[in-house]
Amino acid sequence: MHEDLWDIVDSNAHDGDKAKGAVAIDAFPGLGKTTSVLAFAKQFHLREIAEHGDRTPEGHQRLPVCRVGLTGNTGLKDFNRAMLEFFAHPGNIRGTAAQFASRALDCMISCHVRLLIVDDLHFLRWRNTSGVEISNHFKYIANEYPVTLVFVGVGLAERGLLDEVDALGNPVLAQSGRRTTPLGMEPFLIDTQERRRQWRGVLLAIEQRLVLADARRGMLADELPDYLFARSTGHIGSLMTLINRGCQRAVRTGAERLDREVLDRVKNDAAAENARRELAAALDRRRITSRVTPGRSRSVAGAP
Ligand SMILES: Nc1ncnc2c1ncn2[C@@H]1O[C@H](COP(=O)(O)OP(=O)(O)OP(=O)(O)O)[C@@H](O)[C@H]1O
Ligand SMILES: [Mg+2]
Repeated sequence: MHEDLWDIVDSNAHDGDKAKGAVAIDAFPGLGKTTSVLAFAKQFHLREIAEHGDRTPEGHQRLPVCRVGLTGNTGLKDFNRAMLEFFAHPGNIRGTAAQFASRALDCMISCHVRLLIVDDLHFLRWRNTSGVEISNHFKYIANEYPVTLVFVGVGLAERGLLDEVDALGNPVLAQSGRRTTPLGMEPFLIDTQERRRQWRGVLLAIEQRLVLADARRGMLADELPDYLFARSTGHIGSLMTLINRGCQRAVRTGAERLDREVLDRVKNDAAAENARRELAAALDRRRITSRVTPGRSRSVAGAP
């Protein structure tokens, strides 16, 4: 995803009078959209500051990235206000939606913003099901603001962000749909050798960062790959919650390592717990496995 983002963001560095391509990161909750985009934003911010300095030629603070988080049921006016809040602009109390938008534009130009991240875009109120109003607003931003838009959200495609025609058959939506590149994120899967290797890689990476007195190499990747997959169903959010709480418990109880016994006592989020039962049954019956070399799994995980 970062590779694609670099391609799109860096190729958008042309003059202000052309509408710039946008990105929509559209994936299921808890797969690490926000984490991943913020990691990219940080790299981008640091690169821009290192290259151009932390002040613009006019002496303003340089802010290469503006991130706007939406609250539930946000309208377009609140969205514009949220952009002003990012800049701590004093004029965010009174004004029309258009005035807010033009103040935000002024801030973005002054601070040389190049990336505008809108997190949880699906919170935005889609007044008519086709979302023409929203599409038009983002077209305006893409036209006028010198930024690359990065939308992050759940089910953006279904809400019509990437459509070409609205409910009445007018092709107005294509102004946004044609300029927005969708990027997805998938949960971890274990159906091919390559994917099992990825899963193992993640567990090895986590393992190395655990600070527990009795931690050993292979504690997660060799001993618990099936178990952790069943409990997290391959979702990074659920996996990290489990590991986090497990470590906390391991420290508190003095176990100082992660094993089935410790993790079995840790409660995970509701969705992961629901999906777990079916998956655990299949893994137990060896119908599927998350191990890289399935032949080896019997001797290790087959032990009671
Ligand atoms: N690359 C990663 N390394 C470690 N932990 C991660 C990583 N990506 C995500 N996580 C963990 O997963 C959790 C969920 O990630 P995040 O909030 O980014 O998901 P999201 O896709 O934005 O979810 P939502 O749609 O609910 O906003 C985070 O709290 C974090 O602990
Ligand atoms: Mg998020």
